[in-house]
Amino acid sequence: MKVTVVGVGAVGATCADNIVRKELAHEVVLVDVKEGVAEGKALDLTQTTSLLGFDTKVTGTTGDYSKTAGTQVAVITSGIPRKPGMSREDLIGTNAKIVKEVASNILKYSPDAILVVISNPMDTMTYLALKSLKLPKNRVIGMGGALDSSRFKTYLSLASGASQGDIQALVIGGHGDTTMIPLTRLATWQGVPFSKVLGADDLNKVAADTMVGGATLTKLLGTSAWYAPGAAGAAVVESIVRDEKKVFPCCVYLEGEYGQSDICIGVPVVLGKNGVEKIIQLDLNDDEKAKFQASADAVRNMNNVLNDMNIL
Ligand code: 2OP
Repeated sequence: MKVTVVGVGAVGATCADNIVRKELAHEVVLVDVKEGVAEGKALDLTQTTSLLGFDTKVTGTTGDYSKTAGTQVAVITSGIPRKPGMSREDLIGTNAKIVKEVASNILKYSPDAILVVISNPMDTMTYLALKSLKLPKNRVIGMGGALDSSRFKTYLSLASGASQGDIQALVIGGHGDTTMIPLTRLATWQGVPFSKVLGADDLNKVAADTMVGGATLTKLLGTSAWYAPGAAGAAVVESIVRDEKKVFPCCVYLEGEYGQSDICIGVPVVLGKNGVEKIIQLDLNDDEKAKFQASADAVRNMNNVLNDMNIL
């Protein structure tokens, strides 16, 4: 199993670190445009081998994609991160060109690779990779919902004292501060609905905190977060390479599911060796359906910018 991580800023490097610690691949290739950085981070990670006890070969390259040949799963984190006050959507002009180029370079040497997209605005970057490279829908996965759901579980745990591992909770919709939908009605603590554990005000606050989970960190850190985004990327890779069939909300191409078509947006999916193996259709109530529609409208507006850029 060979996994490539493109873009080894904080998110990409953390994702690679998680992948090698868990021995999810025999070989991990790091790629970056900044001279020497991928090679340096690969060597640094390699020097943790005996300390952490894994056996994965890690190599790095400054933009030589021939080194990525034979990749089964490629994680794309390339592009600029947000600064305080920026939305993920503000990044589209710069990141669209970068993501399209990275995805086509990966596919040139690994035509069957599954792509895991982390670059922002993630829903639109996932759609761009799928559409511009005409990839089958099982092979392009945006990881945003996996990250947002882990943030949702964190805030549910902080509010209730529940162990995060005992919490089932999903965030669907777009990966944006106003487009994501934490499904408080369906969140449970080992089967007990959180509506029976927390009051309505507390649950609403958990949802609101989840939605600005990334922005809160950007404000604190001066740039976007990396531990949870990197770990979420690695968890998605893990379910694919180990064929675990785990359910994560991920950004995937819809053809009629949830009443939407020609869009990539977050819904729960089963991830296995073929990438997206099943889209799970939740029974949403009217309020949740309306929120999903509004979220899809916002993602579609953002996707329209790709048409204006003539990049699809
Ligand atoms: C975040 O939400 C990087 O989009 C990512 O932190």
